[in-house]
Amino acid sequence: MVANPFDTVLVVDFGAQYAQLIARRIREAHVYSEIVPHSITADEVNRRGACGIVLSGGPRSVYADAAPRIDPGVFGLGVPVLGICYGAQLLCDELGGTVERTGSGEYGKTSLHRSGPSLIFAEFPESLEVWMSHADSMVVPPPGFSVTASTDEVAVAALEDRERALYGVQFHPEVVHTERGQELLKAFLFEVCGARPSWTRTSVIEQATEEVRALVGTDHVLVALSGGVDSAVTAALVHKAVGDQLTCVFVDTGLLRAGEAEQVEETFRRQFALDLVHVKAADRFFAALAGVLDPEQKRKAIGELFIRIFEEVARGIEGVRFLGQGTLYPDVIESGTANAATIKTHHNVGGLPDDMDLELVEPLRALFKDEVREVGVELGLPEEIVWRQPFPGPGLAVRIVGEVTPERAEICRQADAIVLEECRRAGLDREIWQAFAVLLAIRSVGVMGDERTYGYPIVVRAVTSEDAMTADWARLPDDLLERLSSRIINEVPGVNRVAYDITSKPPGTIEWE
Ligand code: XMP
Repeated sequence: MVANPFDTVLVVDFGAQYAQLIARRIREAHVYSEIVPHSITADEVNRRGACGIVLSGGPRSVYADAAPRIDPGVFGLGVPVLGICYGAQLLCDELGGTVERTGSGEYGKTSLHRSGPSLIFAEFPESLEVWMSHADSMVVPPPGFSVTASTDEVAVAALEDRERALYGVQFHPEVVHTERGQELLKAFLFEVCGARPSWTRTSVIEQATEEVRALVGTDHVLVALSGGVDSAVTAALVHKAVGDQLTCVFVDTGLLRAGEAEQVEETFRRQFALDLVHVKAADRFFAALAGVLDPEQKRKAIGELFIRIFEEVARGIEGVRFLGQGTLYPDVIESGTANAATIKTHHNVGGLPDDMDLELVEPLRALFKDEVREVGVELGLPEEIVWRQPFPGPGLAVRIVGEVTPERAEICRQADAIVLEECRRAGLDREIWQAFAVLLAIRSVGVMGDERTYGYPIVVRAVTSEDAMTADWARLPDDLLERLSSRIINEVPGVNRVAYDITSKPPGTIEWE
């Protein structure tokens, strides 16, 4: 395994929604950060050679029975610690201070008043606006600590023991509403921890390619390109690492968005000159979908055929030992196996048959989505791929209510292309999580040029979201909606009505099927 060359700050997760945000903010300062569970021991912190520790916020009270705690040995390692919110309270409680529910909780914007010098507030004004979210408060600091800030409600809003490099802030420096929050984090990283800002796009790429080279050796890697950003960046990185030991497989299901297959060809075959197997399998997919109306059956039919085709291709390539996958850091954290290195596992991925027995190469395992995009840009991938919206595996099939035929897929694809193009032209494509067209199975009466029409409706769906778990319908401007309606009806044969979906998730889902 290739050693981690980056100065590393560990973010200890106490169950806050903020742990990932803290880790991302640290990386934005070009310092590598990893999220670790609060069960981490002082020995483990030592073994990892961390140069700093941040204790995240969390929903519990430090004095509650089942409150998550941390090995107290962590505070005696000489490694600087910054506690945030719950993390600060835990540090306070653990080292002999007092934390209580005083009845003066603070939520939202709060004025912070500094008192006395502090390395982490060095050049800050005497008062600043910070973002708070706490019911409990630190009341008495532990021995050896000085109070460096307070608010109108709480006496201890920041505290530190400079000698032992232990710091705590009751507010959240990682959220944008906290004035100079990022500067505070940087002061902790650079002034207190002495970290070097070496986590940059180029060093990330160097590290990932070295790891891929070390893992793959002289063997051959297969990457299934979906057209999405994760598999595209995986392919580009593996290609940079091992060149023609990589083969990419792209299956054209006939259910892709307009121009997607051409884009993949242009980027990977022509620009990157990599070995690309482009399987044109639309006929096979439409045959498998003939007469299928049920959404789950559609998904199953598509999934099975996809695997069969992938397997056919893989078996035809001599000596394939590895499968490249675009697993990202949030997936790694969620699966509870946090380990930022490229790992080597026997794994039955995405339903691929067991007897293929491929080992995984996951060069994006340490990266957040925004970092993947940056790496993609640095590797020369086009904007259209780097900023592509999420697209479901079964493709347009789950956006065509009723039977999926080549003709109906074409209607959906054309309408979809108009939705994307107009959203892009309105400058909204990066604000909107997903925008697309759904083709319904019913027909309605209309009139065009004195002729009665009896055509299909298109439903335009556009949502904003952070992570697709919840979503809100996008408040598209009226003139954009008007252009969408007019262009879809005029340009897409067979469509005579356009509706806009104003359902959030929940209760709706983003896709229709
Ligand atoms: P729903 O419709 O469940 O979608 O709100 C949430 C997110 O997941 C995407 N999606 C899929 N992605 N295979 C995928 O890779 C699928 O079968 C699939 N179904 C939904 C959807 O586009 C949205 O971003």
